[in-house]
Amino acid sequence: GTRLIIDTDPGVDDAFAIALAALSDDVDLLGVTTVFGNVSLEATTRNALRVLQLCGRPDVPVAAGAARPLVHPQPARAGHVHGEDGLSGRSAALPEPERGPEPGGAVKLLVSLLEAADEPVTIAPIGPLTNIALLLAAHPHVKEKIGRIVLMGGGVGRGNSTATAEFNIWSDPEAARRVLVEEDVPCVMVPLDLTHRCAVSTAWLGKLAAGGRIGAALEALTPDYLASYRRSLGWDGIVLHDAVAVAEAISPGILRTESYPVDVDCTFGPGRGTTLVDRRRAGMRGEGEGAVAPSAVQVAVDTDVDGLGEFVLG
Ligand code: BDR
Ligand code: CA
Repeated sequence: GTRLIIDTDPGVDDAFAIALAALSDDVDLLGVTTVFGNVSLEATTRNALRVLQLCGRPDVPVAAGAARPLVHPQPARAGHVHGEDGLSGRSAALPEPERGPEPGGAVKLLVSLLEAADEPVTIAPIGPLTNIALLLAAHPHVKEKIGRIVLMGGGVGRGNSTATAEFNIWSDPEAARRVLVEEDVPCVMVPLDLTHRCAVSTAWLGKLAAGGRIGAALEALTPDYLASYRRSLGWDGIVLHDAVAVAEAISPGILRTESYPVDVDCTFGPGRGTTLVDRRRAGMRGEGEGAVAPSAVQVAVDTDVDGLGEFVLG
């Protein structure tokens, strides 16, 4: 099975993504690291521990990472989307974790898990990329242990935090640029464009809830998240962005990808946090004129939406 580490900021869709990996027989979930994002680091860490407890996986080590972005002094927040505690105000209904976070923090846990791995490890970052940028910057020797980084983030000409920037990238553009552009690690980027096409309906959530205790507990975390989609898009459903990325991490190829040069806008202007996915034909990119070879990222562009929904219900 896939050896997997999830880096996360739960978050309603993060909770679904963690559960998907924690409950899958094909996955060896080595660890979960947490980062600021949807809510504070304290809350994301507590939420991650609770979701693992819900799934009967207190054996999975959790470590807390960055509480703020690399450069910008203020962490972003999305409590208006995920609820003030990150889980629609329902986190207290989850079981109390029997294990606390690892001492030493996220980067230390990532390094020790990667150093100990005898097969390539997949990392699935589904929050701001701060922890992963710090890892790659400070411990480049672990890069050879990383098979792929499959991240949820960015858009191909669309955003949610701003007109063109997606939340995870916008929350720490310098970190995202380090991971996607400056470091030589194979990346799969799962952008908003695709995750939105994989939105699930309240009927789908009902099916999940009817499927058993864990499904019911996950469905119970969705009311605020559902309300925010109703408010902002007029939808009777939600987007499980992070579960789409983790599905690809678990089951390589479930998403169809295309290779494009990607850059990240790190200016402090209106484009900050935008992913620039260069879909021009190679001949138009001016290569061979002394231009620096752009880093290629596998951008997820398509999937069998119904099949994916079944996979997650699985
Ligand atoms: C991303 O932002 C967060 O709110 C979600 O958990 C997801 O990781 C979507 O833009
Ligand atoms: Ca997330």
